[in-house]
Amino acid sequence: MAAHRVTDFGGLQIEYDDRVLAPRQWTTAQARWMADVLRRLPDGPVLELCSGAGHIGLLAGVYTGRDLVMVDASEAACEMAERNVAANPVKGSVDVRRGRVDEAIAPEERFVGIIADPPWVPSARTSTFPEDPVTAIDGGEDGLALALVCVDVIDRHLAPDGAAILQVGTVEQAEAVRERLRTGLRVVETRTFGDRGVLVRLDRRG
Ligand SMILES: C[S@@+](CC[C@H](N)C(=O)[O-])C[C@H]1O[C@@H](n2cnc3c(N)ncnc32)[C@H](O)[C@@H]1O
Repeated sequence: MAAHRVTDFGGLQIEYDDRVLAPRQWTTAQARWMADVLRRLPDGPVLELCSGAGHIGLLAGVYTGRDLVMVDASEAACEMAERNVAANPVKGSVDVRRGRVDEAIAPEERFVGIIADPPWVPSARTSTFPEDPVTAIDGGEDGLALALVCVDVIDRHLAPDGAAILQVGTVEQAEAVRERLRTGLRVVETRTFGDRGVLVRLDRRG
């Protein structure tokens, strides 16, 4: 049985174990940015794709009080997310769904905010992170396989005035996402966090 650990994440007490990715402190920035953007957007729920133990979405939910749907393919991640929902002062409702990002959302569902944290390490480099579960970090040949699926899900389910914050690994990956946008979305802003990761804000094209 995997040993459970608890870490502080922006004031939340987040439980995790070896079966899921350990919370990375810098990603509080993804929750804060989403919450900041949501202050200027209409009422409506938030979707978190690739939620893992659920900490990024939960922190955004604590800041905003909005209802939250979390999606992750891993049974262990969803188990941890459920425990973290129960252990923290969440104001809105939280619906943890186990499934693939492109299968877990009904066609008619719309979200004002979408957070996405797909695996983004190129397959050939996953051995550089032996402590991380491969399924949590392996983003395919260029690291963007699931990120691009998330962009399609965002395009299908983002409300007309909504905003999404997508995490990738590098400025080059962020640029590749921008170049490969075939949909009704546009990159509004990119924020870089040293060599830890990059956040990309996507809105609908005006
Ligand atoms: C980079 S981790 C992020 C987890 C969490 N947000 C965090 O910061 O620790 C990516 C997550 O995506 C999940 N995942 C991988 N492929 C998926 C898919 N096709 N659909 C849904 N979730 C998937 C993994 O189980 C993992 O929890």
